[in-house]
Amino acid sequence: MASTKDWFETVAEAQARAKKRLPRSVYLALVAGTEKGLTSRDNELAFDELGFRPHMADLPEKRELATTVMGQDVSFPVLISPTGVQAVHPDGEVAVARAAAAEGTAMGLSSFASKPVEEVAAANPQLFFQMYWCGDRDRILARAERARAAGAKGLIVTLDWSFASRRDWGAPPIPEKIDLKNAVKFAPEVLRKPRWLATFVRSGALPDLTVPNMALPGEPAPGFFGAYFEWMQTPLARWEDIAWLREKWDGPFMVKGISRPDDARRAVDAGVTAISVSTHGGNNLDGTPGAIRSLPGVVDAVGDRVEVLLDGGVRRGSDVVKAMALGARAVMIGRAYLWGMAANGERGVQNVLSILRSGMNETLMGLGKSSVHDLTREDVLVPPGFTRDWS
Ligand SMILES: Cc1cc2nc3c(=O)[nH]c(=O)nc-3n(C[C@H](O)[C@H](O)[C@H](O)COP(=O)(O)O)c2cc1C
Repeated sequence: MASTKDWFETVAEAQARAKKRLPRSVYLALVAGTEKGLTSRDNELAFDELGFRPHMADLPEKRELATTVMGQDVSFPVLISPTGVQAVHPDGEVAVARAAAAEGTAMGLSSFASKPVEEVAAANPQLFFQMYWCGDRDRILARAERARAAGAKGLIVTLDWSFASRRDWGAPPIPEKIDLKNAVKFAPEVLRKPRWLATFVRSGALPDLTVPNMALPGEPAPGFFGAYFEWMQTPLARWEDIAWLREKWDGPFMVKGISRPDDARRAVDAGVTAISVSTHGGNNLDGTPGAIRSLPGVVDAVGDRVEVLLDGGVRRGSDVVKAMALGARAVMIGRAYLWGMAANGERGVQNVLSILRSGMNETLMGLGKSSVHDLTREDVLVPPGFTRDWS
């Protein structure tokens, strides 16, 4: 479908619209990445090294995209990856949840999100709650229990974070809250983006930059920096901590951020049910290869025991097919839906999901596959050295 004012035809176009619409600091917070941006770039570029082996004629009339992930039926294998407080749109994660529900897919909600888990689960019951190892065991468990009571169907524990804070293109300033002083400071860049400002003004609220899911029941929502400070003070997670939380949760449980086959085996020993091969979108240790390069090694190590997903660099339906051909059960997307939401709110997120669905359908047709479940490594050409030989 050709682009119109209300519809973009690629994720690249969504990104261009987001750049035009968002204040510079907000846009840069979504570009994110660390240090030189090697990993963030490789997440995307590595997909381009993979080729397809298309069939001609005798192609199936219909293609099956539906699957299950962590016990949830999804209409196609693209899920929403959890992303933290963004100030992209006043409806925030609730808009994302509605869009994902409308497209028949599940959502990961960040513990650093701007909307409470109760509101988001009401908008999409196919919800997985994401946590970092932050606070003592009692607080960690209480946050997980709050999410369970709200209806979360699974837990995602993200392990890949080393508090790296430098970017060659400049980390944007993040205000603690929007008060008069900060309003004056950010006014020049915000006033240049009247449409972004207008959506917040119409909603009756400015971005408040609190993280309500870091509060225990009865506590006020802390600010982003307060929660981040608690996290920085927390002793780093050990595999025995993960095994402990996994046992307490007693339901679908994903560890997100694995690159190495040996870590994947440790995660399986800790009892997880799913792994996402991920580099945190290139926001952690710069120089880690793009996630898709690490996928085959992890699949070979543990793919017969747990569900293996991938996130990082997915911008097209053909990327999803490449990941599935290399053994992923599904993928999760981050920036793609954030660009979509910045471009056009809830409809923009649906637009992105729809682009990925159509792209998958076309790619499967070209490959002569009637189902995502029939994809194998034979469907892609993998150049020598692609996987960087992890094992
Ligand atoms: C702005 C931003 C915020 C993020 N916040 C979180 C978060 O709170 N928790 C988490 O597990 N991952 C977070 N991530 C990582 C994403 O879940 C995901 O791993 C990554 O975005 C995938 O790469 P992609 O953006 O290329 O799709 C964040 C990523 C971005 C870009």
